[in-house]
Amino acid sequence: MKARILEPTTAHLAKAAQALRQGELVGMPTETVYGLAGNALDETALAKIFAVKERPTFDPLIVHVAPGLSSLAALDQAGLVESARLSLSQKTQIETLISKFWPGPLTLVLPKKSRVPDLATSGLPNVAVRMPRHPVAQALIQEAGVPLAAPSANRFGRISPTTAEAVFSELGERIPLILDGGPCQVGVESTVISFAQGGAPVLLRPGGISRSEIERELGTSIWMIEKSTSNPGGQPTAQVAPGMLASHYAPRKPIWLLPRAVSELDSGQILPLLLQSGARGKSVGLMLMSGSADEAKSRFAALTGTDAVVQSLSPSGNIEEAARNLFSILRKLDDSPAEILFAEPCRESTGLGHAIQDRLRRATHRTS
Ligand code: TXA
Ligand code: MG
Repeated sequence: MKARILEPTTAHLAKAAQALRQGELVGMPTETVYGLAGNALDETALAKIFAVKERPTFDPLIVHVAPGLSSLAALDQAGLVESARLSLSQKTQIETLISKFWPGPLTLVLPKKSRVPDLATSGLPNVAVRMPRHPVAQALIQEAGVPLAAPSANRFGRISPTTAEAVFSELGERIPLILDGGPCQVGVESTVISFAQGGAPVLLRPGGISRSEIERELGTSIWMIEKSTSNPGGQPTAQVAPGMLASHYAPRKPIWLLPRAVSELDSGQILPLLLQSGARGKSVGLMLMSGSADEAKSRFAALTGTDAVVQSLSPSGNIEEAARNLFSILRKLDDSPAEILFAEPCRESTGLGHAIQDRLRRATHRTS
């Protein structure tokens, strides 16, 4: 099988929708990252998603719903969410978030109905639901007439794709078609908020919608799960936040986090890191958070005597642009002649900066 990359014309959308109804998988653009979409109510299609991604079945999927389903009642009626298992105050909070942030990069983990196959939720009693904002995703879900399970369209643990070509390079040999919706606008995945823990909402993954925006809407602060090994109650979270694996979003090449921006580095900091990482004598790739690639290249050469391939996420220091470029630039460096990569840390710890820090931490995670 070799995927065809198709423009999202009416005819191609119809073709993709038909493939989905027949249990096939389709590369689907969303505003965050491209998804590997399959019929969320079809166990065979779900099994294919796990197989194609080489994803362990303990890591559950997000179910993408059509624009009409913008209330708890509608999600309940569609056979997805069991709203009777939510408290009154949870219901109010959920309705607030839906009306403010849907369609958009916010995923809500809610009690599931039995119509949702256990495979979609890895056996958990809750289902993650999101209404994407991208017009092609909306049209595809509508046309397919079923909700679509869609993890990011990369092989498990690898860099999420933000263009149709990136989906092709990850999964092109394994799926029949990819709809080309252009480069993703947001560039990092949706924020995941769980209402499954009984009372208060919990942030499971920082993403396209900031924690502070959510807290402002709810008028209360929210818990956050930061580690892959513990939750606020100290219980193991393999079941609670299955996607929170420490190592994720990783390029094939080794990647290290710099202690500070290249413009602020001195040789006493960088030389030991080059030694420790085994970069001496190798060709180096540098990912900047901001600023000029040319200036960083000369500074790095002056400090280390090494010529580096340099890419800047946002020369002007715009955090939205940095998030949008994060995965595509990581991918570019991974495909460059550089043998070992170094990334500047992200200084901004709120909003999209929070999501970038999270992805960088996982991309650069090492156990040794
Ligand atoms: O932006 C996005 O969310 C993208 C696009 C394609 O929509 N999708 C995406 O899916 O990032 P994926 O599979 O790469 O990440 C889904 C994450 C899981 O890793 C897990 O943390 C969380 O969503 N999740 C899904 N179902 C859950 C559940 N029942 N309980 C807790 N967390 C869940
Ligand atoms: Mg993913």
